[in-house]
Amino acid sequence: MERIPEPELMNGAEQALAYAAADFEEPHNRFVELFRNKFPEEKIDGYVLDLGCGPADVTIRFARACPNCLIHGIDGAENMLKYGRDAIADQGLESRINLYCGHLPEIKPVQPSYDVIISNSLLHHLHDPMVLWDSIRTYAAPKAIIFVMDLFRPATQLEAKRVVEQYATDEPALLKDDFFHSLCASYRIEEVEKQLEQANLRKLSTEIVSDRHWIVYGKL
Ligand SMILES: C[S@@+](CC[C@H](N)C(=O)[O-])C[C@H]1O[C@@H](n2cnc3c(N)ncnc32)[C@H](O)[C@@H]1O
Repeated sequence: MERIPEPELMNGAEQALAYAAADFEEPHNRFVELFRNKFPEEKIDGYVLDLGCGPADVTIRFARACPNCLIHGIDGAENMLKYGRDAIADQGLESRINLYCGHLPEIKPVQPSYDVIISNSLLHHLHDPMVLWDSIRTYAAPKAIIFVMDLFRPATQLEAKRVVEQYATDEPALLKDDFFHSLCASYRIEEVEKQLEQANLRKLSTEIVSDRHWIVYGKL
């Protein structure tokens, strides 16, 4: 199927609540585990930028796995960030994680450059996918570590529905709808490879890591 774009920001009150309350333990732990597998020797002790951090579930898991880094999360949806700020406070991580509300590419991160840039499930929301890759190129410090994960588009809408039923069967209807639209809006690995080529980020590697996710990773 052709890609069907979805709205960029997830700022609806109900939408943000459903997303923040959802159980993402498996894919989000996997995000951190894959990061660790790809960079087993690296000391992660500088500034980390999380692009499209949403309610900061990945951000918090990353902070716990890498206890010496400071993380800045950026998202354009204040309704998402408020759940993130609560979760960060619950975990006592306020001194290590700061969240900023702003739309990419207009928002400029606080630090001029970052040692690590991560992003989970932002790309499929972007109407111009180059916004993610250009932001990475602009804000990555020399030799920065890059780690991005997202969904890929199934062959048909029927297959997308099957994926939703397999992985979100007990979730509320709103979340299932969002998941379906995200699958339809997501980019295939060949499309991502073309984007990397266009962004002059050929140094980064791509890999399919599950029946619905790919990763892009590497050191610049
Ligand atoms: C599917 S959520 C992923 C959130 C989080 N990374 C996670 O894995 O749970 C995508 C997030 O990207 C944000 N977003 C989409 N387009 C954006 C843009 N252009 N600038 C900033 N945030 C954006 C949305 O508001 C939403 O919170």
